[in-house]
Amino acid sequence: MRTETPQPIRLSDYRPPAFLIDKVELTFDLQPNTTRVKARLDIRRNEGMAGEPLKLNGERLKLISVAVDGRKLGEGERSVGPEFLTVAEVPDAFALETEVEIDPENNKALEGLYMSGGRFCTQCEAEGFRKITYWPDRPDVLSRFTVRIEADAKFQHLLSNGNLIERGELPGGRHFAVWNDPFPKPCYLFALVAGELDVLEDKLVTMSGRTVDLRIYVDTGMAPRAAYAMDALKRSMKWDEETFGREYDLDLFMIVAVRDFNFGAMENKGLNIFNSSLLLANPETATDMDYERIESVVAHEYFHNWTGDRITCRDWFQLCLKEGLTVFRDQSFSADMRGHAVQRIKDVKALRARQFAEDQGPLAHPVRPSSYLKIDNFYTATIYEKGAEVIRMLKTLIGAEAFRAGMDLYFERWDGHATTVEEFIKCFAEVSNHDLTAFFTWYEQAGTPRVRLASRYDPAKRTLDLELAQQTPPTPGQPTKTAATIPVRVGLLDQDGRTQAFERDGEAVDETVIVLDAAKAKVRLEGVDRPPVISALRGFSAPVVLESDAEPKDRYILLAGDPDLFNRWEAGQELARELILSRAKGRPDDVGEERFAEAMGRALADQAADPAFKALLLSLPSEPDLALALQPADPAAIHEAREALRLRLAVHLAEDLRRLHSGLQESGEFSADAAAAGRRALRNAALELLAANPRAETAELADGHYRGAGNMTDAMGGLNALMLIGGPEYELALEDFYTRWKSEPLVVDKWFALQARDPDESALGRVMGLTAHPAFDAKNPNRLRALVATFANFNPVRFHDPSGAGYRFLADQILAVDRYNPMTAARLVDVLGAWRRYIPELGQLMKAELERIAKADPLSKNVFELVTRSLGEDGAG
Ligand code: BES
Ligand code: ZN
Repeated sequence: MRTETPQPIRLSDYRPPAFLIDKVELTFDLQPNTTRVKARLDIRRNEGMAGEPLKLNGERLKLISVAVDGRKLGEGERSVGPEFLTVAEVPDAFALETEVEIDPENNKALEGLYMSGGRFCTQCEAEGFRKITYWPDRPDVLSRFTVRIEADAKFQHLLSNGNLIERGELPGGRHFAVWNDPFPKPCYLFALVAGELDVLEDKLVTMSGRTVDLRIYVDTGMAPRAAYAMDALKRSMKWDEETFGREYDLDLFMIVAVRDFNFGAMENKGLNIFNSSLLLANPETATDMDYERIESVVAHEYFHNWTGDRITCRDWFQLCLKEGLTVFRDQSFSADMRGHAVQRIKDVKALRARQFAEDQGPLAHPVRPSSYLKIDNFYTATIYEKGAEVIRMLKTLIGAEAFRAGMDLYFERWDGHATTVEEFIKCFAEVSNHDLTAFFTWYEQAGTPRVRLASRYDPAKRTLDLELAQQTPPTPGQPTKTAATIPVRVGLLDQDGRTQAFERDGEAVDETVIVLDAAKAKVRLEGVDRPPVISALRGFSAPVVLESDAEPKDRYILLAGDPDLFNRWEAGQELARELILSRAKGRPDDVGEERFAEAMGRALADQAADPAFKALLLSLPSEPDLALALQPADPAAIHEAREALRLRLAVHLAEDLRRLHSGLQESGEFSADAAAAGRRALRNAALELLAANPRAETAELADGHYRGAGNMTDAMGGLNALMLIGGPEYELALEDFYTRWKSEPLVVDKWFALQARDPDESALGRVMGLTAHPAFDAKNPNRLRALVATFANFNPVRFHDPSGAGYRFLADQILAVDRYNPMTAARLVDVLGAWRRYIPELGQLMKAELERIAKADPLSKNVFELVTRSLGEDGAG
């Protein structure tokens, strides 16, 4: 809690650890309120660190005893503060034994050892291990862990990392288990789970012929709902063997699902811990989106076994070394599983919604930041999503083969170590003979580059001159920017929408990558026989904002037939964005809107196109996305303009949409596969669009859809449409839904989230009222996020109520939650941080709430850091 102004930690201050710990033995005597943790650490002084005192992190620990080489230290030989245990004089090699007491039951921060649903579980990344025992809590201290767990026999399963080496009974109705993890690991990868659980078991034979036992532990009775996660796990394991040559290394891999969890999931060595929302699924309770998320998160955490666990980060500034890379790996996996174009579109949508917004606000930071107060605040879209984009660009620049060779070298060179982004990039420079010095700008410079593209076609010479220019707006602490290395993938169509080949440097091609690595570049394409339509930044080859001189007619040609599906989708988005923004600015383009509706009708009729792709085509840019393009942002104007275009589409396409809706109705057995999910997505998207026209027959259709739903995807699709239409059918369905699902926490979360997204005027009052609902529990992060974060992030028109009541509501929630769970409270701050982008009447009210939070005492470091950065100097400063 805040007592004085906290001091930032800086990358430039990095020093190697003074002491290393080769081996540790931990003994847990588990009791909900009084858990005893004994630790025996084999410590040796690191080279060149003579004279350094032993300084161990430890927070909220009750110290019972501490001994060096078997001798108990007296009060005068050690000092204990709220954050450290220090022993001034220690030998160069010694055994340290400590005993502490902790209170898992009352740990509502959900960091360290805590209880969820009557079970013990842990979350140590980034700095939670210090709440379990005294330890140098930093990722570059790698140790071999042996863990003994003792507990009452009612805590049936006693789990930790690695291999089970012993278990047995103890007197007094207690039992024990001993686990050994042969792989040295940093403490943030430690995990322990104890309790009653059901288990789903399976096996996998690895590429070298070893059999690995796979176990997923879940709430009693839920094992069948882990089947999809198990299947995703096996596919992930095979994929990493085939794609990166990476084999699993222990004989056992376990996943445990818990209900109370601050994040999505955690990659603890051999014992991943998951938020149950990202693990449990059956068709009745989970949507296709849930299935898709489960598949990608299971893969992500599994892939960390190599990119994170076997090779970890030297310090937390290197977080993207494991997270950006692992997101890149899980995105590649999902693309292979579900289709490259659709996956790419979804990833870019997420990147724009979250990372581009972050990059434009006061919390903008580089993929590798250079200072922080609380590392928990840097698990951001920039580290994750932009971090993944950087890896993707690296692969584009050096080619797939060199990329794989670089990864191989990285695994070989750094296995078993903690390393840095520099060392990672060095591997690729070495294998490819590319100078990647300039590329490193992507890691050190915040902000989204704007790329301008201008073109001139000379029909006589058959040349196309392209002029590219880049510029990155200032971000906090980085007023001036240097040019980044930007790969721009380009192809050409002709006026009839056919691909046209061209020549680059004398070679005939259909597509080329232009590398823009200076402020400006000119490129001449030759052999361009017919007037071209340029398809630029194909596949979104770099995380930039592209501003081109393309005209609407070019975009219609791309929308109709660009073989690059990403750009086909992008053309539709651009057209929609322009139409919505000009309407929001008071200049509606009725003719343009009709033309757009017609083009969408043709795109929907395309029999060759994948339904999942068409569903994406149909969904207009989101309101937060549009708010980024309209400065200053006026959420009410954006909402109205977007609804107007939706209504136009709903009216113009009514027949097509209804035909789609009835034609895609499926009977027979449910399949979770991508093709079936794509058809459901398109059918639900058609219904959602129809709901923009709230006529009685639409309400009837939505009601029928809801009542006839055979799975949760369709039930939510129907309920969503009813919500958009409003009225008695909606209220009845809402009640019906709750009555039916009230004993299923993950479904009740959906019920809260749906109401939080309601754009109707009544929503703010309804959301505030729901905090008093018996099923609302702010101590459960899933429930809190379902209501509060969904409202603040996905209901802009109601959150930005002109009275400021939405902001006040959010600030109250942040302050209340910060009392016991700072990490989760801090994750609610960023929406308010965007205050400078909004019209002043709103921006000032947002700012006032940030100021109110900043004044609160006590206030966690987590929230303090984000509110002060949000209020701090302008990005342009
Ligand atoms: N290592 C993280 C978990 C984590 C997140 C620890 C934040 C500490 C703070 C894990 O690998 C992760 O990235 N989880 C994501 C989901 C993932 C699929 C992107 C999460 O929890 O949101
Ligand atoms: Zn991760």
